[in-house]
Amino acid sequence: MDYFNELNAKEIVKELDKYIIGQDNAKKMVAIALRNRMRRMNVEGDIRDEIIPSNIIMIGPTGVGKTEIARRLAKLVKAPFVKVEATKFTEVGYVGKDVESIIRDLVNISYSMVEKEMAKEVSKAAEKAAEEKILDAILPGNEKAEKETVEKFRNMLERGVLEDREIEVEVMEQSGPKIDIMGIGGMEAFEGIQDMFQNIAPKKKKKKKMKVKHARQIIIENETIKRIDREIVNEKAKERAEQNGIVFIDEIDKVVTTGKYEGVDVSRGGVQRDLLPIVEGTTVTTKYGAVKTDYILFIAAGAFSSVNISDLMPEFQGRFPVRSELNSLTGEEFFRILTEPDNAITKQYQALIKTEGIEVEFDDEALKLIAEKAYSANQKIEDIGARRLRTVITKVLEDIMYNAPDIENKKIVIDKNFVEKSLGNIFEDKDLERYIL
Ligand SMILES: Nc1ncnc2c1ncn2[C@@H]1O[C@H](COP(=O)(O)OP(=O)(O)OP(=O)(O)O)[C@@H](O)[C@H]1O
Ligand SMILES: [Mg+2]
Repeated sequence: MDYFNELNAKEIVKELDKYIIGQDNAKKMVAIALRNRMRRMNVEGDIRDEIIPSNIIMIGPTGVGKTEIARRLAKLVKAPFVKVEATKFTEVGYVGKDVESIIRDLVNISYSMVEKEMAKEVSKAAEKAAEEKILDAILPGNEKAEKETVEKFRNMLERGVLEDREIEVEVMEQSGPKIDIMGIGGMEAFEGIQDMFQNIAPKKKKKKKMKVKHARQIIIENETIKRIDREIVNEKAKERAEQNGIVFIDEIDKVVTTGKYEGVDVSRGGVQRDLLPIVEGTTVTTKYGAVKTDYILFIAAGAFSSVNISDLMPEFQGRFPVRSELNSLTGEEFFRILTEPDNAITKQYQALIKTEGIEVEFDDEALKLIAEKAYSANQKIEDIGARRLRTVITKVLEDIMYNAPDIENKKIVIDKNFVEKSLGNIFEDKDLERYIL
């Protein structure tokens, strides 16, 4: 299976570099862990079953790129990947999602991945069969025997001259309204029942007249579905989730209860306890069958500002042997964040303003000043990391954003002077600063 061998560790880091400035250690750890998944799949013999993933925990102050790394990773990996916030879950019996839904989501994702791949595999055959079906529908019954006529029509079809011809197509119709069972707290188990309802609700086949060009897609879909073996998809999906699945648990520090809150906050401490078996390796029942969690890679992240990593349950800590600390960002890194990433916030604003015909350019001096101001605001007020850049930039661009339609000058260069003027005296007045940024 070649998709496992997509990117090596260095290439993963290189991809992450496009979006995340600094945090080299975290990027490297994550890349190694991902690469190890791929390596493991290529290990032969029994030893493979002995190799369990080394789960990672990323620790670092707020706004330095933990979640961003996860977001970028999700787009990068070809493996089933889910990202969840630990705070969304509560102990079984309390209002909130139960932790097993993480695994159910993972298998769902895995299922649609496998389904897509298999659909691609049969696509040529399905397309071919669809053309035959269309030909059949176009040709009146008695002419079908005539080989020459068939070929003539096939040729016309290929040339695209029959696209507006009306034919009859069989379409599936879901009868009755979709039964919607609300995901009430802790009731995700009903998910299965909901699916069951949809499956037993009789699907009516209905004939419908439409033009060839509209019918083609429907027929191809029908032909694709026919060629995909649900049971194989099911098995593969389960196996891929088990062997290659990655679960990112964000905000893990938010479910830590230090001794003094015990009792008051049962549901939070309970989340850790509930997560533990999943992380340690257990079996979760899903609509695709029982799924083992032993080989799933878990990456957790948290700011751990008011609690310590040692406040996590010891067993829990033990299951996250790889620790990666993210650093607080420097002024220079702020400057790079403003300029380098493909999706840099400056580029985002430029694109926004351009929709009204105004080109905004930032000169380096201006960007340096913005980075400095953001850094010093973090020092003076509260360190919110790179998120501060957004508050400062928004302030700098406020007038342009407000007056855009009336601005005569269609090309504005934002220089040091502009930044100083737009931020005005915010930085001289601590209260003002606190209030505005
Ligand atoms: N190292 C970085 N490189 C580029 N952009 C960054 C970096 N760190 C943070 N950012 C930007 O700041 C925003 C906030 O970062 P992110 O969501 O990753 O914070 P976090 O570390 O998860 O913080 P928290 O602990 O509060 O969840 C991101 O959307 C991203 O645009
Ligand atoms: Mg975060």
